[in-house]
Amino acid sequence: MKPKVVLTQKYQDEAIEILKERFRLIIVEGSGKTLLDILNEHPDTRALIGFLSDPIGRDVIDAGQNLEIIANYAVGYNNIDFNYAIQKGIAVTNTPDILTGATADLAMALLLSVARRIIEADRYLRDGKFTGWGANLLLGKELNGCNMGVIGMGRIGTATALRAKGFGMNVIYYSRTRKPELEKLHGFIYKEFKEVIREADVVSPHFPASPATRHLFNEEIFGMMKKDAIFINVARGDLVDEKVLADKLEQGELFGAGLDVYEFEPKVTEKLNRLENTVLVPHIGSATFTARMGMARMTIENVTRALNGETPVNLIDECKKTA
Ligand code: DGY
Repeated sequence: MKPKVVLTQKYQDEAIEILKERFRLIIVEGSGKTLLDILNEHPDTRALIGFLSDPIGRDVIDAGQNLEIIANYAVGYNNIDFNYAIQKGIAVTNTPDILTGATADLAMALLLSVARRIIEADRYLRDGKFTGWGANLLLGKELNGCNMGVIGMGRIGTATALRAKGFGMNVIYYSRTRKPELEKLHGFIYKEFKEVIREADVVSPHFPASPATRHLFNEEIFGMMKKDAIFINVARGDLVDEKVLADKLEQGELFGAGLDVYEFEPKVTEKLNRLENTVLVPHIGSATFTARMGMARMTIENVTRALNGETPVNLIDECKKTA
């Protein structure tokens, strides 16, 4: 009999068809049941494919008595109690690389939108306010020659830095591990975290969410930024004390912010909604046809390998350490 696989939410039709060919598939979304209900009803479930918006804690992991793999449909996996899963011998995988370009593109799209006040300008025009060219109309910031401060020079941080370089920006960065090869190849300059914060015209964090990075961007850190700095976040909302960010933006202590992720996702701090100097999008970093289909395929391949007794390709680092 084909192994039983649970998918929390619907994703690409083509991917669902492949899952149905290979497995006995149960989809939680639309079933009127919770993930916990489904796992309790189907204790023989061997694989779980989850989304970044699905909390997969101890209760879920315990209910999945025969789980061999949790395949996250995202590169970030802070939604999963992965240490507990690993302790129980369950493989955990994510979807790196395929979404790097899409997410870095979005970081730049947000940056350009904030710097050149694109959303405000679009609204202005649609509201019928464009009555003629004006020397002082909707002035914004130039990126050329500015310091792009990347916090976390991993895959997405690097791809964002390279795009920023293409716009004539100087890349300064802080990362847990220094990247001499990137410094040599692309002229990126390593600095201590607070130095980057003080010297950057644009700050773009690319750290994963963890207890150690929660509210990394707080009163002290936002207070150190240049008064006309732009803050971009396509990583995780947890990194930011959103109330502090909203206050700083309102008080004109930052030029603006472009956000894809939120502290209380899917809720957004009301003040951010009201401000003109914010560009807010609903966690669409990886939302390109190519990236999302690629991510879906990765989840399928990881599950297939795990259930065939092979090592999944995209084991998270914490799993590799224990493998
Ligand atoms: C991820 O996959 O973790 C990203 O946040 C998607 O945008």
